[in-house]
Amino acid sequence: MDTSRKAYYVSQNNPGSEVSSEIAAALAASSIVFSKIDGLYANVLLARAKQVFDFANNYRGSYNDSIGAAVCPFYCDFNGYMDELIWGATWLYKASNDQNYWNFVKSNIQSIESSVLFRNTNGFKVLANGGSFAEFGWDSKHAGINVLVSQGVMNNPSNENPFVPNANNLICSLLPNSPTKSVTYSKGGLLFKVGSSNLQHATSLSFLLIVYARYMQANNKVVQCGNVVAKPSDLINLAKSQVDYILGNNPLGMSYMVGYGQKYPQKIHHRGSTLPSIDVNSNRMKCRDGDKYFELSTPNINVLTGAIVGGPADDDSFQDSRYNISQSEPTTYINAPFVGVLAYFNSNNM
Ligand SMILES: *[C@@H]1O[C@H](CO)[C@@H](O)[C@H](O)[C@H]1NC(C)=O
Ligand SMILES: *[C@@H]1O[C@H](CO)[C@@H](O)[C@H](O)[C@H]1NC(C)=O
Repeated sequence: MDTSRKAYYVSQNNPGSEVSSEIAAALAASSIVFSKIDGLYANVLLARAKQVFDFANNYRGSYNDSIGAAVCPFYCDFNGYMDELIWGATWLYKASNDQNYWNFVKSNIQSIESSVLFRNTNGFKVLANGGSFAEFGWDSKHAGINVLVSQGVMNNPSNENPFVPNANNLICSLLPNSPTKSVTYSKGGLLFKVGSSNLQHATSLSFLLIVYARYMQANNKVVQCGNVVAKPSDLINLAKSQVDYILGNNPLGMSYMVGYGQKYPQKIHHRGSTLPSIDVNSNRMKCRDGDKYFELSTPNINVLTGAIVGGPADDDSFQDSRYNISQSEPTTYINAPFVGVLAYFNSNNM
């Protein structure tokens, strides 16, 4: 490609606390993984995580403003960067056991909790952006924070607030038989939340269900949703139903993972999958020269094996059209949590 491939960066004068703090979280989480096999490298990762977190925290600002049109309107930071700062501090606390990070989490979670607009009919707190406990994705980290922190405080009443109650509310907002369910399910059984690229919710919430179920098992807990008692196995079974749906157990018999199963999306919204390789077409292609491939009614030339697309509509229908971006576009934030979900079911032979 010889069109502009401009790279962007954040700096002290043009900060982006959400992106910096997510990087700190990733480095800290990686250091935990490597600590068992390569202590020196784990230390490098942790030291760098601390530096990047300090940078994110000391030079606060949104990448919305610093990078502007390159990131927003595509991936605007709608709910601010405090959730990412807390997310970063949570992982740093887990990786380092340094009390300063825990103090950061405890004092700043209040700023998020106190921005609660009102309580809905179930007594659940609702934020201006739709919920402090029920979202986990590229913008909001709230549900992830609540689940992750719960691991350490589930049997610790003086520290459990607001994390465990919020995580319990999350579970009760998801389980199909919960009286306080706030998601919907299609006839075929797929979880739906408002917004586009719905499988991002089905995969990321399935991931949290499994993680939380394991914390519940370790602490011998159930979650009480009104008069319904949710056991760890209820959470696991719900996640399993989502995986099975995504991989083909649904009314269309369609796998939403490209290249997996007998029937999967053929016209995904993805440039590399749609355009011929330079080995096939060595002529120079100008910027809009790809349009004629985009407009073809035939399947994409290259199979993007493993990519999960945005998924079906809430009536279980699927257009398989490059024009229907919300349905046919694969994204990293759909695939990433699904890897964790598959790893769990694979290691448990389920
Ligand atoms: C980023 O931009 C979006 C869209 O204009 C806006 O809703 C949001 O409040 C902005 N976020 C921050 C942290 O400024
Ligand atoms: C994508 O498909 C859904 C469900 O069939 C439909 O409601 C929506 O209008 C379609 N969007 C586009 C851009 O075609």
